[in-house]
Amino acid sequence: MFDGKFRTWLGAGALAAGSILLLTTSTFGAELTAKQVTFTKDVAPIFQAKCQECHRTGSMAPMSLVTFDETRPWAKSIRERVIRRQMPPWHIDRTVGIQKFKNDMSLSDDQINTIVSWVDSGAPQGNPKDMPPPKQWPGDNEWRAVAELGQPDFIVEAEAYTMPAHHQDVWWRPSTDVPVTEPRWVKAVEMRPTAAPGRRIIHHAVAYLDQDESQNGNSADRASALGGRGMLMEWAIGKGYDLYRPNTGKLLLPGSKISWDVHIHAVGEEIKSGVQLGVWLYPKGQEPKYRTYLTAFQGVRRGGIDIPPNTISEHEGFTVLRQPAILENFQPHMHLRGKAMELEAILPDGTQQIVSYVGNFNFNWMTNYIYADDAAPVFPKGTVIKVTAWHDNTRANPNNPDPDQQVTYGDRTVDEMAHGWVNVTYISDDDYNQWAAEHKPKREAFNGAPAAPASNRK
Ligand code: HEC
Repeated sequence: MFDGKFRTWLGAGALAAGSILLLTTSTFGAELTAKQVTFTKDVAPIFQAKCQECHRTGSMAPMSLVTFDETRPWAKSIRERVIRRQMPPWHIDRTVGIQKFKNDMSLSDDQINTIVSWVDSGAPQGNPKDMPPPKQWPGDNEWRAVAELGQPDFIVEAEAYTMPAHHQDVWWRPSTDVPVTEPRWVKAVEMRPTAAPGRRIIHHAVAYLDQDESQNGNSADRASALGGRGMLMEWAIGKGYDLYRPNTGKLLLPGSKISWDVHIHAVGEEIKSGVQLGVWLYPKGQEPKYRTYLTAFQGVRRGGIDIPPNTISEHEGFTVLRQPAILENFQPHMHLRGKAMELEAILPDGTQQIVSYVGNFNFNWMTNYIYADDAAPVFPKGTVIKVTAWHDNTRANPNNPDPDQQVTYGDRTVDEMAHGWVNVTYISDDDYNQWAAEHKPKREAFNGAPAAPASNRK
């Protein structure tokens, strides 16, 4: 199995770009060449919808894609990035696993064809009168969840850290009290650097929830069953907010603390920033039925990585679900050599399902793929969650700082790790049985899916 996957993986990597190019060039042909595709009429609306959140003055991307004059010099690069589906940063495989998401920012095939056809016909501006009115954006220091949820109920803030222009990576681990005096249920959380320039130095941050679960009167609590601290949220560049599904939440107890783990790297300029966690609560007295735990499903155990120079490696990790559970999202986490990650479920009856496969992992983008409510997979007790991780320690990986290094497990970006962050909502056996009865046809169809990603591994 290892050999098979390994070979096919290499083949897919080499072929992918070429074959996508071919496909796109031959499909946009007829209908689109008939009429002139222009920036103002056809392309600007797509960029407003899919690019400008990041590509506008003062936001995170290196250039603005708002006006024609700003955009024109980037036409070739835009063509390349959208054809390879590197931009927008949505890197999940479109041919296997779950395909319905709450936060899908990808381009449709039609949108890609429009952009490519525009570039190939000389990137014309078109009639300025066709230009859509400029899109309005929330202020730079606005929470992304505001449009949907209003302002957070409270904010917990990690003390700021001053990162010098040149320094080794730092793990900043302050602790902050959570301002609740009675048990309260969390509906949504969002994390962000306190200062906008912090986006450049903060690679990712985890907010661990430290609290005494015994006061909850629930000794068999899942937190202890999982053997870990309850993580409230993991933030990385490009991540939005976590909104739990209806009747589901995370529980905060009085006396709880947030223990931060903020991974900071130097960027050639001194920058000072902390991290803030915005918390949206359920109204007092409203108790959701289900509790959600952010879980790191490991693709490899601590210390279990030893990648020789100039090789591609494959690692697998297995975790048993002790209760029936809903998986709410998938966020692969690896470092600079990260190449691909697959999340699979092996059910107690032996059937195997691919839940999600990110074949095009890019360290710059810790994208969180949040399943649509009706698409989130539900598994019975005893299901094994399998994470397979591929690391590319060769020259072919543009992020690789040195393909001649041996790479081992560790926290620095030049070391490696591999886990999938998943919000796991545990449900009762009765709930599971009911779900299974209601979803029988769908479940059978899903079980019949191929056991390995078809397209990228041929
Ligand atoms: C979530 C934020 C985000 C979105 C959405 C996004 N980009 Fe980007 N883009 C970035 C960032 C940050 C970079 C620089 C880092 C990188 O290359 O990954 C970038 C880089 C690029 C580049 C490469 C620039 C160069 O140096 O050559 C192009 C081209 C690009 N984006 C085009 C687009 C287009 C077109 C869209 C929409 C269809 C889009 N991006 C959507 C954040 C974003």
